[in-house]
Amino acid sequence: KSLTIGLIPADGIGLEVIPAARKAILAVQSELPAVKFIDLLAGWNTFTRTGTALPFETVQALKECDCALFGSVSSPSRKVAGYSSPIVALRKELDLYANIRPVISVSADSASTPAVDLIVVRENTECLYVKDEKLIRTDTGKEARATRLITERASTRIGKIAFELAKARPRKLLTIIHKSNVLSVTDGLFRESVRAVPTLPGIDGKFDDVTIEEQLVDSAVYRLFREPQIYDVMVAPNLYGDIISDAAAALVGSLGVIPSINAGDNFVMGEPVHGSAPDIAGKGIANPVASIRSAALMLRHLGYTSAADKIDKAVNDTLAPAKVLTADLGGSHSTIQVTDHILGLIQQQ
Ligand code: NAI
Ligand code: MG
Repeated sequence: KSLTIGLIPADGIGLEVIPAARKAILAVQSELPAVKFIDLLAGWNTFTRTGTALPFETVQALKECDCALFGSVSSPSRKVAGYSSPIVALRKELDLYANIRPVISVSADSASTPAVDLIVVRENTECLYVKDEKLIRTDTGKEARATRLITERASTRIGKIAFELAKARPRKLLTIIHKSNVLSVTDGLFRESVRAVPTLPGIDGKFDDVTIEEQLVDSAVYRLFREPQIYDVMVAPNLYGDIISDAAAALVGSLGVIPSINAGDNFVMGEPVHGSAPDIAGKGIANPVASIRSAALMLRHLGYTSAADKIDKAVNDTLAPAKVLTADLGGSHSTIQVTDHILGLIQQQ
């Protein structure tokens, strides 16, 4: 058995932080089947050199991989003919329907920052993002309409992922985010489909120990800022999930520590939440933690729990108490110094 991992650093600090994640995976090799890395191209740099942001060879190669790590792309702020985001295309191409984003406080010792430890699970394929929009002219002026698609199939499959994640955590609490007091048909279907997961054939009581709560999306954001510690796993349709996951990220200080995975039934891709950070790219000061945690999350999703635990523990001990920090967290250590500290702690475990 082997584990083939595609590496797509892409642009900007992706080129600095993905190598750090690669080293972290190698450091826990003893917990894994034989690891093989495949270096792949995508992104703005690739577009300017080859005319495509996502070469066909990259997609083909990924289909031979078990999983992948994606760095970050620089998307032009103006519209460029022929360019489209490779990350959006990859999610579609590989049917990565779940976006999973754990948000954890860097340190629980500051009185002003509440301890946050939650996971946002966002449906990644439908809702308003089906981009079915129409503009028509009426007697009274322009009128724009968008279709919002919610299916039982997609809501059920994201629900299953959310229940699995909740079950694996100490608090085993799942909060369904919706607005079904207003959108009773679409959000109603999402909510009912997720709620029905524990009763599906084949589940056999597996999720009986998971507590289910619900929260309207507006009050969920309010409570997220007032008392984030009440949340454990949150599951939401695409648009609410997009907003909540960015809002939750704001709670912990730096984008540089927040990992994510895009998961489907046959593939998982780790991806730090941050972008290509052109303001610090090339200086060796980018925080590698988001990418290293994304690697751990990817391994955990594949069932390599002990490997993921080792990486996460070393990362947590590096942030606090060791406080070996990059500048975004108020420290003065380099990408390499933080990475080496994490690798050293993995070695000691
Ligand atoms: P950004 O996430 O790249 O940077 C925002 C701020 O956070 C910057 O000051 C940056 O230096 C800092 N930062 C981000 N990651 C960091 C890290 N690991 N360590 C230390 N500091 C970090 O977002 P921005 O500036 O809005 O976008 C820059 C480029 O990235 C754009 O071209 C944008 O389109 C792209 N982008 C790509 C994403 C992706 O690949 N999924 C997501 C967001 C933006
Ligand atoms: Mg977003």
